[in-house]
Amino acid sequence: MTKASPSLAFLCIQSLKLQLLQSEDPIPDLYELPSELLDGVVAHLPALALQNFQSHMPFHCWGDYESGDDCLINGRKRARNDVLGSSWKVLFKLRWPEFIDHVESPADWQQLYWEKHLQNCADEAAEVALRPTFSGRICSINVSDNILRFICHEEHVSCQKCVCKKLSFHFKTFGPYLRCLRLLNVLCVAETSELLRTSKLQHLVLRWIRSEKHVEHLCKLLIQSRDTLTSLEFIHCKLSSNSISAICASLHENGIYTTGMQRFCIKTSSIELDPLAAPPAFVSFLMSVRTLHSLHFCDSNLDRHITRMVFSTLLDSSSNLSSLDLSENNISGWLSTFCWRSVVGSPSSGKSLRSLCKLNLRGNELNKYDAENLAHALFLMPGLESLNLSGNPIKDSGIRSLISYFKKNLNSCLADLDLENCELSSCGVIEFLDTLSMLEKPLKFLSVADNALGSEVAEAIVNAFTFSVESINISGIGLGPLGFLALGRKLEKGSKKLLSINISKNRGGLETARFLSKLIPLAPRLISVDASYNLMPPESLLMLCDSLRTAKGDLKRLDMTGNSCINQAAEHSTLLCEFQHNGEPIFVLPSSFASHVPYDDDP
Ligand SMILES: *[C@@H]1O[C@H](CO)[C@@H](O)[C@H](O)[C@H]1NC(C)=O
Ligand SMILES: *[C@@H]1O[C@H](CO)[C@@H](O)[C@H](O)[C@H]1NC(C)=O
Ligand SMILES: *[C@@H]1O[C@H](CO)[C@@H](O)[C@H](O)[C@H]1NC(C)=O
Ligand SMILES: *[C@@H]1O[C@H](CO)[C@@H](O)[C@H](O)[C@H]1NC(C)=O
Ligand SMILES: *[C@@H]1O[C@H](CO)[C@@H](O)[C@H](O)[C@H]1NC(C)=O
Ligand SMILES: *[C@@H]1O[C@H](CO)[C@@H](O)[C@H](O)[C@H]1NC(C)=O
Repeated sequence: MTKASPSLAFLCIQSLKLQLLQSEDPIPDLYELPSELLDGVVAHLPALALQNFQSHMPFHCWGDYESGDDCLINGRKRARNDVLGSSWKVLFKLRWPEFIDHVESPADWQQLYWEKHLQNCADEAAEVALRPTFSGRICSINVSDNILRFICHEEHVSCQKCVCKKLSFHFKTFGPYLRCLRLLNVLCVAETSELLRTSKLQHLVLRWIRSEKHVEHLCKLLIQSRDTLTSLEFIHCKLSSNSISAICASLHENGIYTTGMQRFCIKTSSIELDPLAAPPAFVSFLMSVRTLHSLHFCDSNLDRHITRMVFSTLLDSSSNLSSLDLSENNISGWLSTFCWRSVVGSPSSGKSLRSLCKLNLRGNELNKYDAENLAHALFLMPGLESLNLSGNPIKDSGIRSLISYFKKNLNSCLADLDLENCELSSCGVIEFLDTLSMLEKPLKFLSVADNALGSEVAEAIVNAFTFSVESINISGIGLGPLGFLALGRKLEKGSKKLLSINISKNRGGLETARFLSKLIPLAPRLISVDASYNLMPPESLLMLCDSLRTAKGDLKRLDMTGNSCINQAAEHSTLLCEFQHNGEPIFVLPSSFASHVPYDDDP
């Protein structure tokens, strides 16, 4: 094969590209080139060259409308900026095609490009530093050709004395674009603060920090970044009392928190605090940082003593927190020593968590006594909208405590309530669902999934979604054919509110389809139905198709996986074609025929 000879413009661009990659200084006259040629150059530059082009661009060529200069007319300048902006987007897409959809527009693609680039470099450097044979300095780790080929260009990669080989070059040059960073323990070393000196970090995620040595270096970085830091997250870490104290102490200067710290999260870690001697720096952090709105300690070995200490500190300081996540710990008893009469009874005590919207207590071994105490504590959270109690054995007595809370507080703000797998029985749940109809503001979302409720709850459930709940999750509650039969019978008025329903794993057989084909035309706002794993036989599908044809609804998704309702592959594709919502198939069908279903399980 013969190669077509390169055009003059191409050669010209190649030469400029090389110069831009190699020179620290502006290239004389480059910016005086005719606009079309210049735009052509810009469109062909690798990232480092584009960066150099842009950073040497004379001020008068920028699209600065106020400056009243004479470089180019306004329209031109706007066009130049658009060309640059979209070139960064093109480079981003080329390098991380799978991420482009996750970026919110309008975005500063140049900033995102270098931020993600530095994350890639950091991840790669961590891998190198983890090798047992590694003994050098982090700064001098070589960035791989795999990365460099996007930054420079293919020929440049083999260049031995290229400045951009070293990690330190990248952090020094592109550091100012870095706002968010994840760091592995091996990178929490003395050099790190130096590497990140030009960065204005806002979000920092630390992983596998387990020694005080790492914490010591981390603290230097925190001190350096505290003016800009708003979010700090620890995952897979082991934090001693000393470590937590040092971390919190790094966030303020002489008692003044310069940071606008908003999120503090510890996940899947272990925290070792002595609740009787909690480090003053930690307590002061909780009490004084008024900007803090998310505090998460998930799956971090919290016991009731620490949790009580944290909770009462927040309460005493009337914290401005909006989300508190204590899920997957073991905190049963955390509220038992509060004297509720004195805290709740007298408004003069003034203690409350007025701004708290979201409380996640999932999987905490909470029992009926905890639920009773919680029902008192809820009065101190008048703005609470979402409560997650799933995976706690609170039983019927527990749900009765919630009932009594609701009865005393009919204008509660609570909108999302998750009572999945709480060892509830039909008695408790029926009472509870009946109470819901008394509320002034109905619930938006309720889950009582994975409780052995049986078919008796059917009537109460129908009432709930007819009058008060928009989305209901009754997956795995043991409805069976009898339960679905009863649901169908009670379904007379229809439901103007219902948006989504999860009836999966209820072994309802054909009755599931009967119920659904009655529900669909009666629920005009229904968007999503999960009817998976219900032992539905083949004739179910015909029934549902009929009902979909007659209904004038808005159904987007009807999940039928795990049912044996399909006979032939041909039937399968007909269905997908006939029933669509905005070009997407409505049915999610059993997997034996679903290999070519364009459905993404992870929206
Ligand atoms: C980095 O690359 C240079 C030249 O390509 C080489 O001399 C040096 O040994 C490398 N450094 C490391 C730590 O691998
Ligand atoms: C309290 O939190 C809200 C939102 O979470 C925020 O808008 C407000 O500024 C915070 N108050 C203070 C004093 O920081
Ligand atoms: C939870 O903590 C209690 C003590 O507070 C302890 O008795 C119980 O064994 C713990 N449960 C689990 C599953 O660790
Ligand atoms: C409760 O927590 C679980 C697990 O974290 C989550 O899947 C569920 O959506 C939460 N429920 C609510 C109402 O936020
Ligand atoms: C409904 O409950 C099931 C079973 O516990 C759970 O896996 C699922 O995430 C829940 N769905 C929603 C939307 O809460
Ligand atoms: C319904 O619940 C099942 C678990 O029983 C869960 O796997 C599924 O994701 C839920 N469906 C929706 C739409 O949340």
